[in-house]
Amino acid sequence: MVYKKPQVPSVHYSDFQSSMPNLAGKTFAITGTTSGTGKVAAQALASKGARLILLNRSSERSEKGLIELKQAYPSADIEQVDCDLQSFTAVRQAIRQVKHLCPNGLYALINNAGIMAMPDQATEDGFDIQMQTNHLSHFLLSCELFPLLKQAAEVHGEARLINHSSIARLAVKKLETSYLEKRGGQLGGNGASMLFSGARWVRYGQTKLANAVFTAALHQKLQQAQSKVKALVAHPGFANTELQVTTNKNGGMSSWSSLGAKWISQSAEDGALGLLSCAVLPEAQSGEFYGPGKGIFATKGKAIGFSLQKQCTRQDSIDLLWSKSCEAIEQEFVID
Ligand SMILES: NC(=O)c1ccc[n+]([C@@H]2O[C@H](COP(=O)([O-])OP(=O)(O)OC[C@H]3O[C@@H](n4cnc5c(N)ncnc54)[C@H](OP(=O)(O)O)[C@@H]3O)[C@@H](O)[C@H]2O)c1
Repeated sequence: MVYKKPQVPSVHYSDFQSSMPNLAGKTFAITGTTSGTGKVAAQALASKGARLILLNRSSERSEKGLIELKQAYPSADIEQVDCDLQSFTAVRQAIRQVKHLCPNGLYALINNAGIMAMPDQATEDGFDIQMQTNHLSHFLLSCELFPLLKQAAEVHGEARLINHSSIARLAVKKLETSYLEKRGGQLGGNGASMLFSGARWVRYGQTKLANAVFTAALHQKLQQAQSKVKALVAHPGFANTELQVTTNKNGGMSSWSSLGAKWISQSAEDGALGLLSCAVLPEAQSGEFYGPGKGIFATKGKAIGFSLQKQCTRQDSIDLLWSKSCEAIEQEFVID
């Protein structure tokens, strides 16, 4: 038996999409648009006239996705840049291209792409594959593209840096140093139990807490610098995307879990509303979290704004995340 995505209709997406503001003149870079929440977000942004830079690893899926998006929105300005988040070399090449494509700055960087409960393996850079894909490569993108966000903020009065977290952030108490170090393949093995702290899920939880702590850290530093750039974070609840299918194929999740999923999950479109709220709502404030709710049972529903929980704003976690992430990318991230 393979994991079958439950067919759950969208409830909130259509109203949200039609109420989105016109985005002409704004450039959005977004990672992971070949499926799921990233694909929905790219479609919604293109539908309102945004210029898009899609950051995807090279594949037939990404080529097909680009063609489909251009066909659906023929007047939209859409570029695709190869960006494999499991390689710092590839991310640095992508950064060079984005800088070339954005001489007038970047209104928003949406750090969306992710993988879940994957095996205990190292990337070519030595880090856990989940931590490098979900957080460290996004930290590198954010660090290098921050000057473009600042530039756009001068034009638009603000710019946005958006991370994508998860309810899984609540499954771990605090960030642990080892998960941010070159210890890929030595981080607990391949235990896949969601209920009994299987190591794959602990690693995933660490990455998703890292997304939220990164946002808290950015927010703190942006406030100190009196920056016009906003840092925001979203979570999609439990959205029926390719995420669970890929996890199941890689041994991280049983096929049986699809049986109960129908009752607690929502469509990929509704799951993208946290991300889209962060990207377009005029009232969204730096440091805010958008998703179907705060707690572990917030698996579906309209995206609402709330503040980052204590677990994400602990100063020791903020300091740890910043210093270990800078160490990983081998450069300082200066916010001024
Ligand atoms: N779905 C949920 O219930 C759920 C819940 C909580 C949080 N999230 C978060 O939501 C975000 C989006 O996930 P999704 O649910 O939309 O899953 P998805 O449908 O599997 O989409 C994931 C995207 O990430 C991309 N990606 C994976 N590895 C990559 C790499 N090495 N380099 C570049 N791109 C890569 C995938 O591209 P490829 O085609 O190249 O694989 C795909 O475009 C993730 O950060 C995830 O943690 C999802």
